[in-house]
Amino acid sequence: MIPNGLATIPVGPLDHVAIAVHDIDAAAGRYQVLGATLTHREIVVGQRVEVAFLEVPGTTAIELVCPTSEDSPVARFLHSRGESLHHICFRVADIDAALAVAAETGIRLIDAVPRDGAKGSRIAFIHPEVTGVLVELKQPA
Ligand code: CO
Repeated sequence: MIPNGLATIPVGPLDHVAIAVHDIDAAAGRYQVLGATLTHREIVVGQRVEVAFLEVPGTTAIELVCPTSEDSPVARFLHSRGESLHHICFRVADIDAALAVAAETGIRLIDAVPRDGAKGSRIAFIHPEVTGVLVELKQPA
């Protein structure tokens, strides 16, 4: 269901833009042309992915997402779409409140309840049919 515009999810700044990749090291190397440095790397067990964060001083981070198993949703994404934009992520101060707004207004969610994200964050995804791209909401640790 498309939101009706009467209520909106209160989001903070853009936290990161995420790219699905087959090989984190190879991809991280390519982003050096933008002055990006790899600052954090972590396996997120629940999502069956390894993620790496690339930082460029003064701007939004880039997250590289690589499946750790063939049954990862990101493996299926790579199979159908190739290495490309996977999601954009906005910070929220209170993810439970954000999801409550979504539920009340019929905004279609992937996650009705938050799950564990990288760096101890709590995250939830909004279905890509809502905006045209997968959107992550992130309450930082
Ligand atoms: Co992300």
